[in-house]
Amino acid sequence: MPETLTITDNRTGKSYEISIADGTIRASDLRQIKVDANDFGLMSYDPAFMNTASCKSSITYLDGDAGILRYRGYPIEQLAEQSTYLEVAYLLLHGELPNQTELAAWQHSITTHTFVHEFLKRALEGYRYDAHPMGRLVAFLATLSTFYTDAKRVREPEIRMQHVVRIIAKMPTIAAWAFRHSLGRPYVYPNNDLGYCGNFLAMLFQIAEPKYKVNPVLERALDVLFILHADHEQNCSTSAARGVGSAESDPYVALAAASAALYGPLHGGANEAVLRMLKKIGSVKEIPAFIESVKHGDGKLMGFGHRVYKNYDPRAKVIKKLADDVFEVTGRNPLLDIALELEKIALSDEYFIKRKLYPNVDFYSGLIYQAMGFPVEMFPVLFAIPRASGWLSQWSEMLDDPEQKISRPRQIYTGTDVRNYVPIAKR
Ligand code: ACO
Repeated sequence: MPETLTITDNRTGKSYEISIADGTIRASDLRQIKVDANDFGLMSYDPAFMNTASCKSSITYLDGDAGILRYRGYPIEQLAEQSTYLEVAYLLLHGELPNQTELAAWQHSITTHTFVHEFLKRALEGYRYDAHPMGRLVAFLATLSTFYTDAKRVREPEIRMQHVVRIIAKMPTIAAWAFRHSLGRPYVYPNNDLGYCGNFLAMLFQIAEPKYKVNPVLERALDVLFILHADHEQNCSTSAARGVGSAESDPYVALAAASAALYGPLHGGANEAVLRMLKKIGSVKEIPAFIESVKHGDGKLMGFGHRVYKNYDPRAKVIKKLADDVFEVTGRNPLLDIALELEKIALSDEYFIKRKLYPNVDFYSGLIYQAMGFPVEMFPVLFAIPRASGWLSQWSEMLDDPEQKISRPRQIYTGTDVRNYVPIAKR
């Protein structure tokens, strides 16, 4: 079977044969299709990139119809069960799981870069106590860029990796300090004897220093949530990181841009919306009326549906199980009963079945975060911390891809044709 596409241009009667590779045609192959020699050539129009692959990537595989998610070939369920977040971050960045020696060296370099410049504390003081922690995260990432001027040398592998390590190591510190600042609590410095998530929990919640003990169940739960959120191929924030990085800006500002994209309620803010919705429903007996209102177009069932998954989001399955472990420690989140009943009813309702609407990653994660003591504003920050490893892997892959250049989409101009300037007195 020839891997080609034959296109006939009915404007000219000419036919063209275009190669198909990986189920894709190259948009630039369309440029040979012209009405005459002066014609620019045919372009494809794809607002919101609904059907355009912007890169080749060997990092994350996602099959939304089958509900499959794999990092570097490893099923997400196996990684969530057997791996750790730092091991997964290494896998995403390097393509292979580390051996014992590599993992020890990796953990050591992350652990020894957790401290941030004291000046950052002063920058933090510039914010009001009620500033959204996500806005602060965006600003702190950009601020770090001003500390590390060599980060612009993105073509030098050693320097690039040094900053990758710094960012992964410092994300929990800056997130925890933003949290402490909003509560008016003193900052807790990193404790390099603790693991990645244990250290994060201590920096967040430690009050009387010698007494604070990281609960191993909560530490593991957070680690699993970090694994599940580490990458999700070419989503809005990852595309922002790649786009900004394609100008060879440093990784701090590329990640500030990615975090800014994640900040939006259509992207990283849905778990917060789920909690607000569950609270608004209030009790199990109100669910049928709520479902009816959704079916009549009065709002959405938040935490359901996904642009890519038309099946149960595999991450949601893992999180649902995880919730039981967390609630054993923290006590049951009373909103869980509403969530479980809502899911049961929605999954048996024709409206949701027909539209292939299933729970997504955000349906249960907020309940866990809330039970662990996080305010809702921190939820997108908890998403950004592990996603940093995905953003950095994708950014680095983009820089090493010889086919990539500065990202620069085309447009279809719909404005006025040329006209002469009219002096203000004559308008
Ligand atoms: N509740 C009720 N109906 C829904 C929902 C929902 N959550 N999601 C989609 N639908 C309906 C739409 O109204 C539409 O119905 P119609 O065909 O009768 O018009 C149909 O299902 C198809 O929906 P689209 O809007 O075309 O789906 P799209 O892929 O554009 O949207 C999205 C995906 C944005 C995630 C959507 O499902 C949604 O808003 N869900 C709720 C918010 C949410 O949970 N977001 C988190 C996503 S996961 C993440 O970003 C990490």
